Amino acid sequence: MRVFAIGATGVLGGRLVPLLLEHGHDVVVMAPDDRLGLLPEGVRGVSGDLLDPGITEVLAGELTGVDVVVNAATAIPRDFSAPGAWERNTGLRRHGTVRVLEAVLTAGVPAVVQMSVTMAYADGGDDWLTEQAPFDTDPARGSIVDPVAAMERAVTEIGGDRIAWSILRGARFVGAGTTQDAIRARLREGTLHAHPDDRYVSLVHVADFAAAVTAAIERRTSGVVLNIADDPLLVADYLGRLAELDGAPEPGTSTDAAREVSHRVSSAAARQLLDWQPRTGVWPVRFGQ
Ligand SMILES: NC(=O)c1ccc[n+]([C@@H]2O[C@H](COP(=O)([O-])OP(=O)(O)OC[C@H]3O[C@@H](n4cnc5c(N)ncnc54)[C@H](OP(=O)(O)O)[C@@H]3O)[C@@H](O)[C@H]2O)c1
Repeated sequence: MRVFAIGATGVLGGRLVPLLLEHGHDVVVMAPDDRLGLLPEGVRGVSGDLLDPGITEVLAGELTGVDVVVNAATAIPRDFSAPGAWERNTGLRRHGTVRVLEAVLTAGVPAVVQMSVTMAYADGGDDWLTEQAPFDTDPARGSIVDPVAAMERAVTEIGGDRIAWSILRGARFVGAGTTQDAIRARLREGTLHAHPDDRYVSLVHVADFAAAVTAAIERRTSGVVLNIADDPLLVADYLGRLAELDGAPEPGTSTDAAREVSHRVSSAAARQLLDWQPRTGVWPVRFGQ
């Protein structure tokens, strides 16, 4: 198939593009210039910024003959609490998604696979979170959650029954280049503490997520929202095992630590519909090995 992958020069793209090539697909990647030069041989790079309102027309021209568009563009800030930190990511989710869909409709591309996040769910405590679970309405998390809801609405409303759309809500990525690296570093330093009331965390290895995206493309799923997550873990078990693997001190708890929103995400629907299951898992090889 001819796959046009937007934002596939990052962590996910590093796994997704080689996997698509391995499966015999023809891949074009669009992103702002910086990392296009690092794409594997045989992959054409198109320079394009979804925050530029003029991109819709350019993109529509590039999409002629494409079978499926994958939208993985994101700009997660390094410092979540810095002033204006979420502006670019919000722009990508709210406006970039609409631009992609308009270009897709203009060019007559039949299918779109849109990346989303399970991070938007409200705290579920010990309950399993299926795709029907509500998004968080806590105003403190609105700058993260509201743009995710707007992005998904754009797909379901603009896409409607005119495009075969799929939304894949990924759990927190683990693997090289993800925030798991920073967590491991802090565990080794002994500076990471969990909150005593922390419950569940849902994770997925980026290679496993790339496999789910590939399955959605190849199975031509349509009109579906799917959680993509490995088996959820209790935060204390996750941090304890990570520390043990790296020979780091056992992490303690502290009421001064930020409390994690509990996400015990069920990916039962994806496992059935995509015949997908996590194969790489969430555990890294021991630090230094
Ligand atoms: N990270 C997670 O834990 C996680 C979990 C679940 C789902 N997801 C979703 O998975 C997708 C990929 O995430 P990732 O971790 O691979 O992110 P990433 O490593 O930050 O890569 C983001 C990609 O978006 C591109 N991009 C940034 N600004 C853009 C713009 N203005 N216009 C077009 N493209 C732009 C980047 O291009 P450059 O080469 O210029 O950087 C890069 O290709 C996202 O949709 C994300 O929401 C992520």
